Amino acid sequence: MQEKTQGRGVWSTKAGFILAAAGSAIGLGNIWRFPYVTGQNGGAAFVLIYILCVICIGLPVMIAELSIGRRSQLNPVGAFRKLAPGSPWVAVGMIGVATGIGILSYYSVVAGWTVGYFFKTVAGDFSRFITSDTSGQIFNSFVRNPTAAIGFLFLFLVLTAAVVMGGVAKGIERWSRILMPALFILLILLTIRSVTLPNAGEGLSFYLKPDFSKITAGTIGKALGQALFSLSLGMGAMITYGSYIARKENIPVAAGYVCLFDTLIAIIAGLMTFPALFAMGLRPDASGPGLVFVLLPTIFAKMPGGFIFGAGFFLLLTLAALTSTISLLEVAVSYMVDEWKWKRLRAVVLMSGLAFIIGIPSALSQGASQWLSSLPLVHLSFLDLANVLLGNYSLTVGAFLIAIFVAYKWGIKSTRQEIEAEGNVFHFGRIWSFLIRFICPVAILIIFIYIIITGDFF
Ligand code: PHE
Repeated sequence: MQEKTQGRGVWSTKAGFILAAAGSAIGLGNIWRFPYVTGQNGGAAFVLIYILCVICIGLPVMIAELSIGRRSQLNPVGAFRKLAPGSPWVAVGMIGVATGIGILSYYSVVAGWTVGYFFKTVAGDFSRFITSDTSGQIFNSFVRNPTAAIGFLFLFLVLTAAVVMGGVAKGIERWSRILMPALFILLILLTIRSVTLPNAGEGLSFYLKPDFSKITAGTIGKALGQALFSLSLGMGAMITYGSYIARKENIPVAAGYVCLFDTLIAIIAGLMTFPALFAMGLRPDASGPGLVFVLLPTIFAKMPGGFIFGAGFFLLLTLAALTSTISLLEVAVSYMVDEWKWKRLRAVVLMSGLAFIIGIPSALSQGASQWLSSLPLVHLSFLDLANVLLGNYSLTVGAFLIAIFVAYKWGIKSTRQEIEAEGNVFHFGRIWSFLIRFICPVAILIIFIYIIITGDFF
């Protein structure tokens, strides 16, 4: 990224931007969240709805967010203020900033587990004879230890803060170039091992043969939430990243690539997970947030050189999580730097400190504190509750409002002008405008009403 005169960067190349946006999108959402949410929500039918949500809602909203960002050249709050002066629309930006810090808090807890698992693998904690039972015990005693849970949360936030301090660009663009392909190759290798395990067929059919009787209002809401979470939409991350794209770039093409890569990685992560899960005798709906952490060591144990694969995988996953937390933190930081004229250093320290404090209850909610592990009324852990409220509902409300804003406030015409700047062609522009005006808002509204009527919130 080169610095422009007013101090706002621009991604140095088109590939650079796609890599950075893909870096934000691809992370724990694909490899940790997608498999366990799919497992809890019935498998193949959920995956189909998920893909539908990516195409009909995710992609159009991503185009909308990137356009808002590039037009305004600002953080989400400033962007709404600039495009709709004196209106309450700035609130959408503010909700986005708050949601970003909230997601950062519990996301960093799970990213901390990844760091911990890297060290555990290197230390030789997983023997070649590990079973799903012993692996489950190792996971439980790890996350139950408050010092480790909080320590790794802290460590991960320090890493995130260090990168964001130096300005987003330099790091991400360069890292993503090596990181993404490496992660992809490793995922493919693990998938090959997983699908060739004995009894893999049962897992494949759970993952690929839809059973629509398992679909409820809540399932559809979770598929949509997962799509938005995985694509980093609904809280302004893509507005912020869009503010760094040069005007000569074609936004819809870039958005298309990001959605494609992100979805591909999630689908492959599922293909890696379910055959192994059934082969190891685990139940897809019972494991929750611990799923991949329990499962992966058992796959590594069954690979020649599994130690190397294991260490490599957790290292790459840590870096993939880092390119996502960078974007979560950057939203709040760019807001404070632009709007409050804070120094970058101050904004970074305060916001990552805040995420650390809010992250503590999530870190303690996996067994360290009984109360936080199963909250009264909802019977969810604090981490699960944050994950549903912020990672699903807050992003869904955000995406709904962004679609309404672009379609009816800023306007289809102005958006298209921005997209078609400098002679860019907007392929499928009419389909996009249909989706953003009608399908996105109406579908989200129907899903919400359906969830409220059936009371299927969690
Ligand atoms: N998309 C990221 C992931 O899949 C998480 C994220 C959500 C990042 C929202 C930014 C905004 O890991």
